[in-house]
Amino acid sequence: MTGLYLSALTLSHFRSHKSARLMLDARPVAVHGPNGAGKTNLIEAVSLLSPGRGLRRAAAQDMARRPEALGWKVSALLHSVTGVHEVETVSEEGGARQVRIDEKSATQLALGRIARVLWLIPAMDRLWIEGAEGRRRFLDRMTMSFIPGHADAVLAYEKAMRERNRLLKDQVRDAHWYLALERQMAETGAEIHANRQQALALIAGAQMQAETAFPAADLDLVQTEGEMPEGADDLREALAESRFRDLVAGRTLVGPHRADLYGVYAAKGVPAADCSTGEQKALLVSLILANARALSRDFGAPPILLLDEVAAHLDATRRAALYDEICALGAQAWMTGTGPDLFAELGARAQHVHVTDTDGTSRIEQHAP
Ligand SMILES: Nc1ncnc2c1ncn2[C@@H]1O[C@H](COP(=O)(O)OP(=O)(O)O)[C@@H](O)[C@H]1O
Ligand SMILES: [Mg+2]
Repeated sequence: MTGLYLSALTLSHFRSHKSARLMLDARPVAVHGPNGAGKTNLIEAVSLLSPGRGLRRAAAQDMARRPEALGWKVSALLHSVTGVHEVETVSEEGGARQVRIDEKSATQLALGRIARVLWLIPAMDRLWIEGAEGRRRFLDRMTMSFIPGHADAVLAYEKAMRERNRLLKDQVRDAHWYLALERQMAETGAEIHANRQQALALIAGAQMQAETAFPAADLDLVQTEGEMPEGADDLREALAESRFRDLVAGRTLVGPHRADLYGVYAAKGVPAADCSTGEQKALLVSLILANARALSRDFGAPPILLLDEVAAHLDATRRAALYDEICALGAQAWMTGTGPDLFAELGARAQHVHVTDTDGTSRIEQHAP
């Protein structure tokens, strides 16, 4: 079976890592070490092997190692369904990050086609109870894992919307200024909506077929207000109709940027937002696993998973179940936790990495379990 995994990873001047090199195989990676050692920094570097700003959504310059601030580089040997690729991403002196694939300059979209990376981080623990933006981002990340071009649609939509919002703020009333922008928003907006629906259908399908210790979530794509017009023509009309209201609000009130993801703990019929903290976390783990299962079928390999501090929040039974499911999937899941004991159940099914910190410089040691 072809998989999706990193067989080598090199970090240069990336946050607390001055220079680190890991040689890996396809197994999951258990990353342990004390607080502040540089574990999350390590998996953040892996997250930059996919499009976007990585798991902390940080600016390129913030990831440059201080105090030098010379820029940074992350490179890897990526085994994908299309073969083995040398992937490199670099920020020079705080500049926007560049991507190279097989020594040729490449777009983030090209990177997204070969590398699918999904993550769960502690900041997402409040995903179900906080604002819609976080849930939209989570949904878009899942959608991108199936449809890499989704990222481009989102960027194009947002760019056109920013321009339209500028017109609204300037109280421009002349319709002809709006037409081209609204056509662009309608086309990309309808695509975004369709992509999201497709991703949710794939995830629902994967949840239905799976035997898993994690609770299924029923997911619904809703609008924070009103209805989402189906199709580009309806969206274009809705934007034109909304113009007067939008002029008063000073921003666009209709479109996929007002979508929200409504989740229900299926077995109990309870909205995710009303579930216990532990249940909310279990729902997220469940969705990530369902996404990974769906991708195995759709893309030919499960994604690389980055699970920051997930083990600590699960009881021993759930933790063992998570490890079993990850191993059954064959995903290279990078999991962090403070102590090696958290990963004891994985044993030799995983490769183990210990991270320590001395005077602000992280050190990585690979060892047998
Ligand atoms: N740009 C940077 N340059 C140097 N050190 C950094 C930078 N960004 C964060 N750090 C350091 O990294 C450490 C946190 O690393 P992190 O990976 O979050 O730890 P943990 O092992 O707990 O996950 C902190 O001590 C922080 O000061
Ligand atoms: Mg951490």
